[in-house]
Amino acid sequence: MKVVHTIEELRDQLRGQLRVSFVPTMGNLHEGHLALMKLARQHGDPVVASIFVNRLQFGPNEDFEKYPRTLQDDIAKLERDRNVYVLFAPDERELYPEPQSYRVQPPQELGDILEGEHRPGFFGGVSTVVLKLFSCVQPRVAVFGKKDYQQLMVIRNMCRQFQLPVEILAHETVRAQDGLALSSRNVYLQEAERQEAPQLFALLQSMQAKLHAGLHDIQQLEREAASMLTARGWQVDYIAVRRRRDLHKPTIEQVAAGEPLVALAAAKLGATRLIDNLEL
Ligand code: PAJ
Repeated sequence: MKVVHTIEELRDQLRGQLRVSFVPTMGNLHEGHLALMKLARQHGDPVVASIFVNRLQFGPNEDFEKYPRTLQDDIAKLERDRNVYVLFAPDERELYPEPQSYRVQPPQELGDILEGEHRPGFFGGVSTVVLKLFSCVQPRVAVFGKKDYQQLMVIRNMCRQFQLPVEILAHETVRAQDGLALSSRNVYLQEAERQEAPQLFALLQSMQAKLHAGLHDIQQLEREAASMLTARGWQVDYIAVRRRRDLHKPTIEQVAAGEPLVALAAAKLGATRLIDNLEL
């Protein structure tokens, strides 16, 4: 695997390649990321991965400074897996040599709800860096995880509306044995919190079961789920059942008619904020 830190080196490595597939990450790689690289390998050649902790998508009170940076370990994992041909790991001066005053602004109705409501500017920051990374790598295919369901949708819509020649592939959420979605932020969890953390996914599963059993009152489902987590000591940002196509609220008629739905949740356990989702 070639590790490159500048756009110029990246372009040198990729000259003439028309079937590049790309996996952008912020590093501290886990099996979820590695599964994305494997899928990328099945859909293109060469595979490019990036590691860049993107300041633009962190709020003022978020964990930008302490976000785990583990480049040497990450390189070792990628070398072991042999799916990635080039790792692009720019520093901030390379990707943001001047203040990034041109920004991608996602539409409010997608970018300012759910995650966007609780993390103002988040999807603008994500879209802007992904557009820049696409422009550096010029992939034909890029892979994103369903773990970040709304992010995947924002990126898909951005590509469609800007008519970017990039096909977006989605990978299912990779989980630990006990159901907890793998995340770079799981390293922040204290031991007792790590024991409790799988409850988030368990709750989404119980919402799915209730819906399948005929409980169509979405608001009641959401309320019950939120109070359950709160009672267990979580701080809930949101638990919401939404239409898969646009993440808007379904009407009760749509629920009864089998509208494809997804339950999305974000909640804090101690100082650690976890997100998860489940297609219902
Ligand atoms: P990061 O959190 O590092 O995630 C990189 C990619 O891995 C994303 O597409 C994410 O959805 C996927 N991923 C993370 N955990 C996963 C899991 N358990 N199962 C499946 N996929 C998983 O998401 C970002 O970085 C950034 O916002 C980025 C897109 C790189 C822009 O900065």
